Amino acid sequence: MTETSPTPTDAPGRRPRSLSGIKSTGTPHLGNYLGMMRPAIELQEQFDAYYFVADYHALTSVYDARAMRASTWEVAAYFLAFGLDPGRTAFFRQSDVPQVTELSWILSCITSMGLLDRAHAFKAAKDRGEEGAVCHGLFAYPVLMAADILIYDSDVVPVGKDQVQHLEMTRDMAQRFNHLFGETLRLPKAMVREDVQVIPGIDGQKMSKSYDNTLEVLAPPKQLKKRVMQIVTDSTPLEDPKDPTTCNVFALHRFFSTAEELAELAAKYRAGGYGYGHAKVELFDKMSAYFAPFRERYEAIKGDHDYLEDVLHDGAMKAAVVANEVLGRTREACGFSHRPTAGR
Ligand code: ADP
Ligand code: TRP
Repeated sequence: MTETSPTPTDAPGRRPRSLSGIKSTGTPHLGNYLGMMRPAIELQEQFDAYYFVADYHALTSVYDARAMRASTWEVAAYFLAFGLDPGRTAFFRQSDVPQVTELSWILSCITSMGLLDRAHAFKAAKDRGEEGAVCHGLFAYPVLMAADILIYDSDVVPVGKDQVQHLEMTRDMAQRFNHLFGETLRLPKAMVREDVQVIPGIDGQKMSKSYDNTLEVLAPPKQLKKRVMQIVTDSTPLEDPKDPTTCNVFALHRFFSTAEELAELAAKYRAGGYGYGHAKVELFDKMSAYFAPFRERYEAIKGDHDYLEDVLHDGAMKAAVVANEVLGRTREACGFSHRPTAGR
């Protein structure tokens, strides 16, 4: 970073960049897989991909080093088992590229409290009357997330629908920075898959670790089956016709069935004599067949912490090159020194 870095114009041959992150706060679930991990993995062929485990973000609620480390490895092993290819994608741990916290501070200085006050997570805490108790990191969460995205000159960000507000805030921050300091930061776009949007949990609400309604798809089959059998349904007797459009089990079948299979299933619901128990067993069979190869890969790598650390380290080395360039350009725009300093 000894030269003034260029502003983000498209260099010839530059491949558009895809970036996303997932917090290390627990076992990934079907919503994470369909909403974010699978779409992100699908983009890795076409895009220059940067994906990371968001452990700085997890620190807003995980205050135990062992749990943090274990969860980081677990999320990393899941992502790799699902098909993330570390040979072509920079896959890293957020805190291994600490430059992002500097950009986060810079963005903090141009972001109004009013904007952050409207962010979902903080607003929810306020509605529960807990605004005084949540940590500053939770309030500032969208700023760090914006820094994550902007520091890699990202073009698209594959995420679930609940993250769209954060992407809008990211664009606001980048636009404001560019307006104040000149064209510096690239404006990203959220990429939300129309066909998935929000995956329902076993109680019909949004599937989320916070609601204890998840399906942990790489769990041992017996455990997964138990969860599938717990999906909440109404009490229509087995022999009566049923409405597939309001059924949580049917809603999940959508993600593992062809159009014909789904039409057939809907007909069985409407005809009567077909129980929710049958629909659940069929759903479990389909899910378990779909995830079997991923489960096998997960079992093979989950305990190999050296391998996981090597992958994350290599990814961080690759990511740091871009982070240093963008941070250098941003520091320069603010009027800070652009000469290399200790640690960068
Ligand atoms: P959780 O709500 O379980 O804590 P996260 O907030 O860690 O999940 O989400 C990680 C990624 O997975 C985000 O991109 C989010 O949009 C996506 N995601 C999470 N739950 C769902 C869901 N039910 N449907 C679709 N996408 C989801
Ligand atoms: N906020 C995201 C979530 O809760 C995780 C995340 C952190 C992220 N930084 C990001 C997602 C940058 C996309 C891009 O799931």
